[in-house]
Amino acid sequence: MFTATTLSGSKPEQYAELAAQARALLSGERDRIANAANLSALVYHALPAVNWVGFYFHDGHELVVGPFQGLPACVRIPLDKGVCGAAATSRQTQRVADVDAFPGHIACDSASRSEVVVPLVRDDHLIGVFDIDSPERERFDADDQYGLETLASIYVESLA
Ligand code: SME
Repeated sequence: MFTATTLSGSKPEQYAELAAQARALLSGERDRIANAANLSALVYHALPAVNWVGFYFHDGHELVVGPFQGLPACVRIPLDKGVCGAAATSRQTQRVADVDAFPGHIACDSASRSEVVVPLVRDDHLIGVFDIDSPERERFDADDQYGLETLASIYVESLA
């Protein structure tokens, strides 16, 4: 049985620990739904002050919600809409300190105040995005971004 231990140390050390837990959790499984579900649950319960952690998958046309933890979410997001669409089309992580100041932000959970969306790309193919929301403004700094990008890359590698 997988056991997630409590994270300790500096923030980069905590993310390194979480990355090790993610590798252990996803190892030996390639199913994208199974791994997205387990990674969402791991991250949601490990990080303080997050209210939504989950995946949107690219169906070739738009983003469709996948496994997540948090309140029910918007099902489909066009690529030219929202923070998720911006991450998907630019293929750059979007770290938004204040979602109310982001033009076109889509409020799935009205409690969300800041957000990080990491694009998931393999072999130049857009798989989808990994989205993390917080009820606190400016919840995510550069260490969070790096840690979440590492977790997203562990997910992408697990599918190979
Ligand atoms: N806020 C996102 C929509 C997804 S929810 O946060 C779960 C956006 O603007 O794309």
